[in-house]
Amino acid sequence: MHVALDPTRLTPEQRHKLTIGTIVPRPIAWTTSVDADGRVNLAPFSYFMGCHSYVPALAISIGSRGGQPKDTRANIEATGELVVNMVTEDLAERMNLTAADFPPGIDELAVAGLTPLPSAVVRPPRIAESPIHIECRVMHTLHLGEPPRVSALFVARIVMWHIRADLVDAELKVDQAALGAIARMGGPMYSRTRDPFTMKIPDWRSVVPPGPPTS
Ligand SMILES: Cc1cc2nc3c(=O)[nH]c(=O)nc-3n(C[C@H](O)[C@H](O)[C@H](O)COP(=O)(O)O)c2cc1C
Repeated sequence: MHVALDPTRLTPEQRHKLTIGTIVPRPIAWTTSVDADGRVNLAPFSYFMGCHSYVPALAISIGSRGGQPKDTRANIEATGELVVNMVTEDLAERMNLTAADFPPGIDELAVAGLTPLPSAVVRPPRIAESPIHIECRVMHTLHLGEPPRVSALFVARIVMWHIRADLVDAELKVDQAALGAIARMGGPMYSRTRDPFTMKIPDWRSVVPPGPPTS
């Protein structure tokens, strides 16, 4: 038996609880951005996914606070640039610290004891302590929701990857077990990726015997 829940009969808080509690686990985009004066901002976002390989591109959705765009969203809307730094188990506490509601102008990297590294293509810096940095430029912005709850969904082109050398081999296979990425679950819950397993997608002919259609 399943419980049917119609979003139109739920409060905004209930819809939020279900969206973050049912679409799991979500990777975390620890995002550096800069404002028009070049001041750096860092915060985590888990409405985040890879969305195209050929382009290549990722998507990230950033909301509002008190009816105003969060600092990262305002920065990306102003500059069109961001760097996504992947979060590993050893960085979890520091990532969480940077989610605090610091006023604009506070250097979250300094607060969390993190080291900025210049990016190759965009202005926002990378975080040295993170093993994977993804430099991006915005291609499309879609606004979702209605005031005071508006989010910007950015589709951003990946313009440079930086991967810690010991985590990637000559065939560009990333060592997931050694990477130890974490993911967001519902509420304050997170998951580890210490126990990966593999499966190959079967050839359909090995699942359904070849022959005339049965229906
Ligand atoms: C793991 C994690 C994931 C988060 N995901 C999102 C998200 O997808 N969208 C969002 O608007 N806020 C998200 N938040 C909240 C922001 O990180 C938080 O509001 C932060 O203060 C925003 O900082 P800024 O104003 O400097 O951009 C998340 C927080 C955490 C800890």
